[in-house]
Amino acid sequence: MKKNILTGFSRLTKIQKLDLIAAQLPDPEVATDTMRSFWHPHAGTQRLFDEFSENTITNYFFPYGIAPNVLINGKMYMVPMVIEESSVIAAAANSAKFWAEKGGFHSEVVSFIKNGQVHFTWDGPFEVLTAEFATLERRLRKRTATITANMEQRGGGVLGMELIDMSHKLPNYYQLSVKFDTRDSMGANFINSCLEEYAAGLREYAENMPGLAPWKLDVIMSILSNYTPECLVKVWVESDISSFSSIDPSISAEDFVRKFEMAVNIAKVDVNRAVTHNKGIFNGIDAVALATGNDFRAIEASGHAWAAREGKYQGLTDISLENNRFNYSLTLPLSIGTVGGLTSLHPMARLSLDLLKDPSAKELMQIAAVIGLANNFSALKSLTTRGIQLGHMKMHLLNILNVYSATDYEKALAVEHFKHHKVSHKAVDDFLTSLRNQ
Ligand code: MEV
Repeated sequence: MKKNILTGFSRLTKIQKLDLIAAQLPDPEVATDTMRSFWHPHAGTQRLFDEFSENTITNYFFPYGIAPNVLINGKMYMVPMVIEESSVIAAAANSAKFWAEKGGFHSEVVSFIKNGQVHFTWDGPFEVLTAEFATLERRLRKRTATITANMEQRGGGVLGMELIDMSHKLPNYYQLSVKFDTRDSMGANFINSCLEEYAAGLREYAENMPGLAPWKLDVIMSILSNYTPECLVKVWVESDISSFSSIDPSISAEDFVRKFEMAVNIAKVDVNRAVTHNKGIFNGIDAVALATGNDFRAIEASGHAWAAREGKYQGLTDISLENNRFNYSLTLPLSIGTVGGLTSLHPMARLSLDLLKDPSAKELMQIAAVIGLANNFSALKSLTTRGIQLGHMKMHLLNILNVYSATDYEKALAVEHFKHHKVSHKAVDDFLTSLRNQ
């Protein structure tokens, strides 16, 4: 069947694109008004957003909220979070307050290395390629001297490179694998620029070295890896088990930690639970990544690969209850930046970093991971006591009221009423109907 392929869309002006899209919608006039109403009132700021990505016709809002009282290694933070899901920020904030009263979160950056690869094929013997590797490495490093100079001045740069034989996985497949320290930047552009230069150098080397002439080297691609198992952060909380004695009226401290431990272990053995467990962690981490202009897709992809590093997907947290101490930790790879990319371009990302007192990338790794652990702790606390729906639906109440176009007055009455009643769509509908009939 012939499809109608639209050509030249990207060359239309913004208004032309918007009109064309509005014309596809049930009420083009309303659609145009809606899209225009989300334009930023300052033309300069809107231009900035238009240019972040392509074919921009309007903006898409997400709420920006704060989790206060986040105490990490003795330092207090107000952490910005961008997320549309109700109850995530409340959960992080509750958890932060709970742990701030018990000494706060602890954290450390375990390692801080990024990596990337030139993937290539080579139809000769591996030893021939590696025999002259020292010469090759010298040449390659020379090629990127201008790219790496600034990074080196900041204390980072290329940490090392090696040739890896991957021909047992795919015929003739090899890698030049490179390690980088990109300091406070996430480093994608820096790494990719270096790798493309190395790819050109590798090609040249294979063509010009006399001993390599009979064989062929073909560069397939050069790209950073978003899997960063050597850019690891560990965060944890700890306290006496007795400190959970008033966590919930329905349960003793001992029963609570026993059920909590079981919940953590279930996420280690059951993939159904593991995915949801980790999703709750990324609720917090992604929200901080978004608020600070970081690439949450990269962070998620790396975190999930790490969760499966032992050949099966598992929950990312660990628990120990030795010597009557509750020790709960999260360790994961987190490649995140505080300079470059959107971090200074997006006015709200800049503001977030200012609010966090201009953290280094290492500090932001710890903050984001802490919020992940805070969210997960709150989730497990609810799940193992009164369940998730009670709190979640309370937080969701305003969304439901908005679906029914409730007025401020109706909302205030509803919020009061549902402090003592179970929230559901039906219950809110009934409540509003009876109110409106009075
Ligand atoms: C909801 O967004 C996240 C939770 O499902 C996480 C969890 O179950 O651990 C509450």
